[in-house]
Amino acid sequence: MNDPKIIVALDFPGAVPALALAHRLSPELCRLKVGKELFTATGPILLEQLMRGGFEIFLDLKFHDIPNTTAQACKAAASLGVWMINVHALGGRKMLEAAQIAVSNSARPPKLIAVTMLTSMAQEDIAELGIQFTPEEMVLRLAKLAQDAGLDGVVCSAQETAMLRKQCGNKFSLVTPGIRPEHASLDDQSRVMTPQAAMQAGSSYLVIGRPITKASDPLQALLAINQDIRGLA
Ligand code: C5P
Repeated sequence: MNDPKIIVALDFPGAVPALALAHRLSPELCRLKVGKELFTATGPILLEQLMRGGFEIFLDLKFHDIPNTTAQACKAAASLGVWMINVHALGGRKMLEAAQIAVSNSARPPKLIAVTMLTSMAQEDIAELGIQFTPEEMVLRLAKLAQDAGLDGVVCSAQETAMLRKQCGNKFSLVTPGIRPEHASLDDQSRVMTPQAAMQAGSSYLVIGRPITKASDPLQALLAINQDIRGLA
């Protein structure tokens, strides 16, 4: 089965630019990520349009609420027919387990992954919350919790990938943003890794936005990255 490793982040304010970009890509070569901005602006209709084009969708809404509410949100997201959804691991074991049960009871269960610590949180931000661990310790702790609760994987930075691959085994999905091909603009990302290095470190899927969406030829950029990671999956 075709299992494209690149998930293109459709970080657009509305349906018109998102669909225009999708039309320039191919579902054989990538999946698409729809996040809070685009989904809030367009709703499920956009997902239907993208899926009609053959694309599989990662609906990146990062649910975080009491267990029942999160489970119902996951159930609703699963009913949209998307390929992957996510929740915040900081919601705790009961929330993660409720989400996992809701997803596995759905007719076409999407992959369910967790966000561990937001990569925007530095050591001092975490300390300010009263958490005594380092960001890396928290990431491992939350990834293990997600795995224990039966989730399929986590979103993690490329820097955390090798450690999590070692600690969580080969079946756990590691979905990695902060990817920049050599010589690409960093934009607002700081700690980045090339597609090859991230795959070699153990990433399952690479989330890539602007290096593809802002390229003068997005399809060519996507093809070039796929070429770079060929054989590394
Ligand atoms: O354009 P770029 O490749 O930087 O886009 C990366 C995508 O991954 C964006 O949608 C961003 O919100 C998401 N992301 C991230 N870092 C995280 C989690 C998600 O860059 N820690």
